[in-house]
Amino acid sequence: MKKLFFVFGAIALMCVACKSDEQKLEEKVESYLSQMTLEEKTGIIHAQSKFSSAGVPRLGIPELWTDDGPHGVRPETMWDAWTAAGQTNDSVTVYPSLTCLAATWNRDMADLYGRSVGAEARYRGKDVLLGPGVNIMRTPLCGRNFEYMGEDPYLAGEICAPYIRGVQSNGVAACVKHYCLNNQEFKRHNVNVTIDDRALYEIYLPAFEKAVKEGHVWSVMGSYNLYKGVHCCHNDITINKILKGEWGFDGALISDWGGVHNTDEAIANGTDLEFGTGTNGVDTNVENAYDYYYLARPYLNKLRSGEVDQTQLDDKCRRVLRLMLRTGMNGKEYYGSMNSPQHSADALAIAREGIVLLKNDNAVLPVSADARKIVVLGENAIKPMAVGGSSSSLKARYELSPLEGIKAAFPDAEVVYERAYQGEPTIKGYNYSLYDLTDPRTPEQMLADALAAVQDADYVIFFGGLNKAKYQDCEGRDRQDYALPYGQDTVVEALAAVRSDLVYVNVSGSPVAMPWIDKVPAALQAWYLGSETGNAIADVLAGKVNPSGKLPFTFPVSLGDCPIRTELQYPGIAPEEEKGIWEQEYTEGIYVGYRWYEAQNIKPLFAFGHGLSYTTFEYGEAKLSSKRFHGNGVTVSVSVTNTGKVAGAEVVQVYVSDLEASVDRPVKELKGFAKVYLEPGQTKTVKVELDKRAFSFFDAARHEWVAEDGDFDILVGAASDDIRTSVRLTL
Ligand code: BGC
Repeated sequence: MKKLFFVFGAIALMCVACKSDEQKLEEKVESYLSQMTLEEKTGIIHAQSKFSSAGVPRLGIPELWTDDGPHGVRPETMWDAWTAAGQTNDSVTVYPSLTCLAATWNRDMADLYGRSVGAEARYRGKDVLLGPGVNIMRTPLCGRNFEYMGEDPYLAGEICAPYIRGVQSNGVAACVKHYCLNNQEFKRHNVNVTIDDRALYEIYLPAFEKAVKEGHVWSVMGSYNLYKGVHCCHNDITINKILKGEWGFDGALISDWGGVHNTDEAIANGTDLEFGTGTNGVDTNVENAYDYYYLARPYLNKLRSGEVDQTQLDDKCRRVLRLMLRTGMNGKEYYGSMNSPQHSADALAIAREGIVLLKNDNAVLPVSADARKIVVLGENAIKPMAVGGSSSSLKARYELSPLEGIKAAFPDAEVVYERAYQGEPTIKGYNYSLYDLTDPRTPEQMLADALAAVQDADYVIFFGGLNKAKYQDCEGRDRQDYALPYGQDTVVEALAAVRSDLVYVNVSGSPVAMPWIDKVPAALQAWYLGSETGNAIADVLAGKVNPSGKLPFTFPVSLGDCPIRTELQYPGIAPEEEKGIWEQEYTEGIYVGYRWYEAQNIKPLFAFGHGLSYTTFEYGEAKLSSKRFHGNGVTVSVSVTNTGKVAGAEVVQVYVSDLEASVDRPVKELKGFAKVYLEPGQTKTVKVELDKRAFSFFDAARHEWVAEDGDFDILVGAASDDIRTSVRLTL
């Protein structure tokens, strides 16, 4: 009894303590707010430079510093220009792209990523790291797919929440972006999205919702596009009603850079911090242009004249103060660290786990330790990829290329390199890391040289794919073609004709067409892997690491297979006036990614969740904690055995299929997963919890999630197209 009292007492004390932390924060917010003048209040809700906003020196409130995001901390820019500041102390650890993180299907890796990159941000003196990006991959052509977490809302939500908590454990705010419906780069400022509520809530919002409810994110970035005719950086429905209303978000809504267009809407519709509204540089402005921001002098004038009262202003200031008190003003000692050996190890661990073995016929891979001659081909074996892609472009402290990695991993082999094709020989990232890889040879000569080199090789490994140049995996432009660029198909075909054991390594953040795949026995999806690229790829090729990544999006065979088929769906209908609004409708509704391919019976090139291993896994029978769903949840369990000769990890994927519903439902939807590590011969039981939401659809008429009574199949497997066992549940 005494013990019980003690436990209750301790719990009660803990509750009081944690409540008082929050209370203390709110008290400080109110105290600062009560001392601020109107000018000081409007002074903290808009930028004062490209990446910072002002504090209130009189009250000891410091400036707030933001920076991109999401794969490392962006180099310093000029105060009022995008050009690099030219500092020599801002080279960083580059982490794998977020598609790679999603491909790990490992929440611990997301936590590690967040903690590690957050420490770099802290060390660089940043309060807000502009990431992660969680927009859903709606079309393979979107230029920013590589910065996002794939096509499935459940996977994106599960990966973004630990990333956010990890970043924020350093006293640095994450800023989940781009909220919402920013699913293409083409006309991103001018496209007005029409979408039904069900698709909005089921596909495009859940990752943001998880960022708020489970990641407890401290800031959210509004997107450039419009929804229901209003820009999403000041949209009453998405910000006031959904984000702050339905989800209870108490942090700051930061505009995307240049995403604010109107003072009245920004006042009324929930914009808390305005960034990036065009200035043309201190040298060309008569006055500091930041005073002309929509939430600066124009707002102040309205307040002074009494046209608007201070209600919204105080709410914005509270949110910005909260953000400051959680980060730079939190009074805790977070030193952070940068470029530490540990950070390299973190980047390597994530990169290794995200690489996906797409195909491995005749066990071509791993490369034997006895290999005498390895021929490495393709521009992507030598091309630096940290730089480029626009705002996520980074200055890497070092970036190990695949070729360097392979040379280091096979010190006794002769490693020969041939370029084979020339893509984008130069790349520039805001005036830093300009490099030039121009090759004087003609394409014919380059191919002939490659074909000559491969003849007596033990292994031939071609590195192709996309890169971070405009119209590839790059912000601001979408890809114009689903095919591989720079004539790579011709090169791969020619190589496959002379080598039936060709290994193709695809470097990209988006799916690409592989019309020659039947002639190529082995393929890897290698993403953009950051500083440790070469080591991670070489470890997987050599079998030092057994691949365990799974695709976070489908590779369709062709663009024609995609759900996006009409101009209205993509890119939208062009306006009559030159700078008008493009009208777009997501007529495919909830049928995005595998939901579409499965409903239409279209066999993809590689399915969502696909990824092979150098070992094999056998699944036992799926079992439920209860055949009927009661109360809050049900547990699915399944035993998995490593039946091969090497240790490895398997991602056990749990999909739910509604057998009878009053609405049209996808064939199945991902609702749970777990990654399990197994030694050869080892068996483990994997448990996955399913809550009521896992069985629900969003009922637009009732505006709520509804789980209808009836039977559901719980499908458990190694990929969306590789279900190994299933069990029925009655609700
Ligand atoms: C991008 C954001 C980025 C911001 C600041 C914008 O163009 O859309 O993702 O964080 O610039 O660089």
